[in-house]
Amino acid sequence: MRRPIIAGNWKMHLTLSEALALAAEVRNRCGRFRQADVVVAPVGLHVHPVAARLEGSTIAVAAQNCHAAAKGAFTGELSPAQIRDAGAAYVIIGHSERRQFFGETDEGVGKKGRAAIDHGLVPILCIGETLAEREAGRMLEVVTRQLDAALAPLTPEEVADVVIAYEPVWAIGTGRTATPAQAQEVHAAIRRRVAEKTSPAIAERVRIQYGGSVKPDNIATLMAEPDIDGALVGGASLEANSFVQIVTGALGAESN
Ligand code: 13P
Repeated sequence: MRRPIIAGNWKMHLTLSEALALAAEVRNRCGRFRQADVVVAPVGLHVHPVAARLEGSTIAVAAQNCHAAAKGAFTGELSPAQIRDAGAAYVIIGHSERRQFFGETDEGVGKKGRAAIDHGLVPILCIGETLAEREAGRMLEVVTRQLDAALAPLTPEEVADVVIAYEPVWAIGTGRTATPAQAQEVHAAIRRRVAEKTSPAIAERVRIQYGGSVKPDNIATLMAEPDIDGALVGGASLEANSFVQIVTGALGAESN
C-alpha cells in the first residue's frame, strides 16, 4: 500500500503573514491525519518561517525549485543544502512553469533531482505534456522522455523514494481537470516505465501524484484510480477550506 501524499503548491502567492496563517490552519485541521503525507510549498523566501510554524506537526514543507549546485556564484538561486537547512523535507523540481518560463531542460531537472537527494530532500518530480503534444499523439513519448532524463542519475533505491507528479500542462490553472481515466492511463504508463528502468518492486513503491485543477469535488474519483497516489494542488491549496477538503477527500472514509 502506498501512502497518499497531498501537496499544496502555493506558487508565487501569499504575503508572509498570509502564508503563516494558512500554514497554521492546515496544521490545526490536517495535523491529526496520520495516514497521509501533507505538504505545503511556499515561495523560497517563506520556507523557513513556514517550516518553523509547522515544526513538531505532521505537515511538511517543500521548496518550489532548487539549483543543482551545493553553493556558488549563482545570484538569486537557492541550493538544496540551504533549503534543507531551512526546514524543508521536499523540493518540487521540473514544474511545467519552470520548464515553460525559465527554460528548464530535462537534463537540468535530472541534475536538480540528483542534488536534492544528495542533500536529504525528497524531489517531487513534475512531468506532463502540453495540449499540442497530446493532440499530436505524443503524450506518452513526452512524459517518458521527461521521466527517463530525471531518473537517469538515480539508483533504483533512490527512485523508490521520489514522488512523481503527473501534471498535464493543459489542466494546470484551467479548470479543465484530466478525467480519472485520462490520468490513470498516464500514471499506469509512468509506473510501467519506472518498472522497466528499475524493477517492478520499486515501481510499486513509487508514489505518483496527479496535478492540474484538482478541487474538493474531483479528488475522490481521481484517488479511486489504482495508480493515483495523491495530488499536487495549485489554486485550491491557497485557501484552507478547499485544501483541507482535498486532503479529507483523498483519505475518504478513513479521515472521519
Ligand atoms: P492548479 O491546481 O491551479 O491547476 O495548479 C496545478 C499545479 O501546477 C500544481 O503544481
